[in-house]
Amino acid sequence: MAKQVLITGGAGFIGSHLAVELLRHGYRVRVLDRLIPQVHGPGHRRPAYLDPEVELQVGDVRDPIALRQALMGVDIVYHFAARVGVGQSMYEMAEYMSVNTQGTAVLLEQLVQRPVERVIVASSMSIYGEGLYRTASGAIKPAVDRTLTQLRAGDWEVKSADGEPLTPVATPEWKTPSLSSVYALSKYDQEQMCMVVGRAYGLPTVVMRFFNAYGPNQALSNPYTGVLAIFASRLLNGNAPLVNEDGLQHRDFVSVYDVARACRLAQEKPEAAYQTFNVGGGKIYTVLEVAKKVAQALGKDRLKPEITGKYRAGDIRHCFADISHARKVLGFEPKVSLKKGLADLAEWLSTQSASDRVMESRNELAQRGLMV
Ligand SMILES: NC(=O)c1ccc[n+]([C@@H]2O[C@H](COP(=O)([O-])OP(=O)(O)OC[C@H]3O[C@@H](n4cnc5c(N)ncnc54)[C@H](O)[C@@H]3O)[C@@H](O)[C@H]2O)c1
Repeated sequence: MAKQVLITGGAGFIGSHLAVELLRHGYRVRVLDRLIPQVHGPGHRRPAYLDPEVELQVGDVRDPIALRQALMGVDIVYHFAARVGVGQSMYEMAEYMSVNTQGTAVLLEQLVQRPVERVIVASSMSIYGEGLYRTASGAIKPAVDRTLTQLRAGDWEVKSADGEPLTPVATPEWKTPSLSSVYALSKYDQEQMCMVVGRAYGLPTVVMRFFNAYGPNQALSNPYTGVLAIFASRLLNGNAPLVNEDGLQHRDFVSVYDVARACRLAQEKPEAAYQTFNVGGGKIYTVLEVAKKVAQALGKDRLKPEITGKYRAGDIRHCFADISHARKVLGFEPKVSLKKGLADLAEWLSTQSASDRVMESRNELAQRGLMV
């Protein structure tokens, strides 16, 4: 009998791709998802992209009754349900802590009563804050968070505590977390709570720290998440992508297909239990480069990215993944290049329309003093 998997939040962007990956590998897939309007629009309707073989239970991860029903006959749990906007988390603190932190606590209480073979929890690069840096002499030094005065002066780069200039290097899992948003705090809660409870009860748990995932099915009209989707929604509406700071911040973009595969490997490899893995694309790009590449892929090169010179509270300067641990233990290798991934994304985008709510969300942040 095929194993039964539950994906909380599995009607969302990454979960929907994971569902396909698992169905292809012979698993049965159930999803518990509240279908929140910010991601799915009004009406709590099943998303058209969700594979018809997925059994969808509409419900809240904070509801123990819904969870008990969703967990019936389940062998493996992926915990993806979350509110995912960094900026938004800085003013909807109660909602973020409720869904992400409290939701994980309720899920774990149910899992303790009804253990499964493995729990895989979606964490985030955001828990690192600034990535890892080294000095000119090669010493690894933590970066000091940038001050508002510095940012207001357009001095974007981070320095060490002694004021030394620093060069970003790939961030491994052992880097000390530095939480710079309520979202990051809640993701750290999620991963640590799963690990602590997993170890105490012998519930094999794996933490997956995703970097910037991109691909089809990402909510285009949700202006709070997914920088590539945000750029795409601007471009589809004939507007230039808005790039914060000077656009030279480094990020790590990973295709959602690679993310889905990494998750399946984390579930299937016995040696992955109780371990934490970065899931990145293995290449680094500046945000400006990526904005240009999205415009090119959509045939909208004439819409040159607009550099805003603004800083959004909670954003970091540079962070990209060291994926050597996932390579070694999971045998994970990113297969989708940014070029191929963007071509695939553009093909999907050609069938989509999006409302550009980016200015609305920027004004929301600015009114609260969260965009300087
Ligand atoms: N997309 C990325 O680049 C990225 C990066 C790092 C981490 N992550 C993490 O990966 C996971 C999936 O992210 P995603 O990009 O697919 O986001 P998404 O918003 O597309 O999916 C999240 C899903 O959770 C559901 N949900 C929200 N609140 C819920 C609740 N109370 N009960 C049940 N379901 C609820 C939503 O309806 C949505 O379908 C999240 O945990 C996120 O924090 C994503």
